[in-house]
Amino acid sequence: MDNIFSWTDENEAIIATNTDATECKRCAVELGYWKDDYISYFVKHADRKAPEINRGYYARVRAMEMFIHQFLERCGTKCQIINLGCGYDTLYWRLKDSTQAVANFIELDFPSVTAKKCHIIKRNKQLLEKISNEDGEVIIRQGDLHADGYHLLGCDLSCLGEVKRKLAAAGATGELPALLLAECVLVYLRPESARALLEHLAGAFPRSALLVYEQCNLGDKFGEVMLRNLSARGCSLAGERHCREPAAQAERMRALGWEQARSWDMHTVWRALPEDDRARVEALEMLDERELLLQLNAHYALTVATRGDMFADMDLNA
Ligand SMILES: C[S@@+](CC[C@H](N)C(=O)[O-])C[C@H]1O[C@@H](n2cnc3c(N)ncnc32)[C@H](O)[C@@H]1O
Repeated sequence: MDNIFSWTDENEAIIATNTDATECKRCAVELGYWKDDYISYFVKHADRKAPEINRGYYARVRAMEMFIHQFLERCGTKCQIINLGCGYDTLYWRLKDSTQAVANFIELDFPSVTAKKCHIIKRNKQLLEKISNEDGEVIIRQGDLHADGYHLLGCDLSCLGEVKRKLAAAGATGELPALLLAECVLVYLRPESARALLEHLAGAFPRSALLVYEQCNLGDKFGEVMLRNLSARGCSLAGERHCREPAAQAERMRALGWEQARSWDMHTVWRALPEDDRARVEALEMLDERELLLQLNAHYALTVATRGDMFADMDLNA
């Protein structure tokens, strides 16, 4: 597809996807889809979204949570979470309020995103008090925020050298189990950059699980429309050729060094959620466009790739 936008415009458009995601999450939270006491600090206002969007976000957030929980059940909290392309994700604060706060939580995104996240954290006591160590010390160095057990770091995930340096500065270690999150991010990287990143992470973390949520089945008509809509906003999916059927996404992870990998489209994920969860959510809003929801769910997938025996049995129905 021809692209009339420059590299910088394109990055701006990619960065704007974080605002979209945060607004959609805030809208769904306000409607009661799930609880998040922190999302409203990151986006002040969100217009009401269509029910199928809210439901899609619910399935995404709930599925990620389900696997995060499975990971923590297997290794306990003496582990690290590395959130790639974290945007304004509030997972760190939500875990801090549970019994599942982990030893080290590292977030990476473009510097302009992490700088804004850092600014929002500093301005809001409710966020800041959860990241201060015993001395209340939060160090901001060259735009990066370091606290005891929480690091927010600006870098381009396409530059592997930079990623390695930032992870080292945040104390990431192959000695501890690692949960790697990539929610709607790898697809924005050029295939060779994504490959280098994933291969490095697989090698660096021998006991780990990687959760990837992103588009799939983009080769069909509906997929083409999705791509065209994104392109019109100046946002191309550099990794689009990897957005094939879920089985191919799992195969790709195995080829990059992950020992096990499974992938499901979001329709399959939705049906695997506990029945009472689905019933509660279905009662929140009338759904006019059932067909549209089915189409959307068929074009997003969750992939779980693992290394190490302790995570080998992570599964949708585990
Ligand atoms: C759709 S948002 C998702 C944010 C978050 N993961 C979530 O699900 O709410 C995509 C994020 O990936 C980040 N991103 C995309 N390409 C990146 C790159 N090359 N380096 C760093 N961050 C990147 C964007 O800045 C943006 O914050």
